[in-house]
Amino acid sequence: TRGPLTDRFGRTATDLRISITDKCNLRCTYCMPAEGMQWLPRESLLTVAEIVRLARIAVSEFGVREIRLTGGEPLIRPDLEDLVRALRRTMPGIPVSMTSNGIGLAARAQGLADAGMNRVNISLDTLCADTYATLARRGKLAEALAGVAAAQRAGMNPVKLNAVLMRGVNDHEAPQLLHWALENHCDLRFIEQMPLDADHGWTRENMVTAADIRESLAADFDLAPDRVPRAGAPAEKHLVRRRGEERVLGTVGIIASVTEPFCEDCTRTRITAEGHVRSCLFSHHETDLMHLLRSGASDADVTRRWREAMWVKPRAHGMDHTGLDSGDYVQPDRSMSAIGG
Ligand code: GTP
Ligand code: 5AD
Ligand code: SF4
Repeated sequence: TRGPLTDRFGRTATDLRISITDKCNLRCTYCMPAEGMQWLPRESLLTVAEIVRLARIAVSEFGVREIRLTGGEPLIRPDLEDLVRALRRTMPGIPVSMTSNGIGLAARAQGLADAGMNRVNISLDTLCADTYATLARRGKLAEALAGVAAAQRAGMNPVKLNAVLMRGVNDHEAPQLLHWALENHCDLRFIEQMPLDADHGWTRENMVTAADIRESLAADFDLAPDRVPRAGAPAEKHLVRRRGEERVLGTVGIIASVTEPFCEDCTRTRITAEGHVRSCLFSHHETDLMHLLRSGASDADVTRRWREAMWVKPRAHGMDHTGLDSGDYVQPDRSMSAIGG
């Protein structure tokens, strides 16, 4: 049963994203409601042994080359270090990374690096403490920034920063965020907000587009396309120069999931916190692997079920040519925090 994990549109999944908890210590408006969500009971979360087993199957059966841990917030799990150590021991050649909000990372970065974590992506939507309070509704900007610095000191480089821009909230900060990232040697990516918030507050009219982002950066910077192949990565990279200068200062990415979709080149397979395969961020179905694992299924059974789940991956999210107004796009029931981003 060995061989690539393909779908009926000819795409191959080589990156595995595993959500290890649905819980989060922040309440970012683009993701979670202020009151939080109904959290999964602990026994519905994958254990370290189950996560390692799924990852091992993905690597040995499907040739998956990269594992990213997501949440909710992965740092919520006290056994994260054990998980990373177990993944790296079981599959020494496979890099393990995480997407985090950075809260609490300062104290754990070195331990995570020692356990073998290769890289971290950290959410940084604003550099203003008051805006952080409006946007994340919990946590402190200074703590997230301390997390970034600690990850760098621990050698988990390059640290990538994720900034979701929202009109009238933080969209005016795009140039400052880029100045900050360049000075602090981080790879910044601006992200178009996707309609995956639990409050269903997203609107196309209010969304900050990649075109808006390029325009606002043009006040301070010249951007040129980076020729390095994108290889399924969601971010389109640009070389950055200060306006009118020759020297390249670094790069900036733009993740334009809505206005410039990259579904055709998608290389991802996802596992939710309760052990379901999600073939796409925007799918309307999931396939339960957890119950299979817990009912004593063999690796071959799990492999087969996973392949079936990915085979029916949707072609695209439906927000592209047809547009949202056509009614073709239906927001999945699950919000971002429960899917894992
Ligand atoms: P790298 O491997 O470091 O490039 O990770 P990444 O950028 O793919 O992961 P990260 O978790 O930091 O996600 C950044 C943004 O990309 C988030 O808004 C994700 O929701 C979004 N994203 C990740 N994977 C996909 C995907 O398959 N489709 C779409 N549309 N967006 C994605
Ligand atoms: N649209 C786009 N990106 C989102 N994220 C969370 N919710 C959304 C959304 N609705 C981003 C966060 C985090 C990553 C996992 O996904 O900024 O960095
Ligand atoms: Fe938490 Fe991430 Fe959702 Fe923000 S985007 S509430 S940090 S899971």
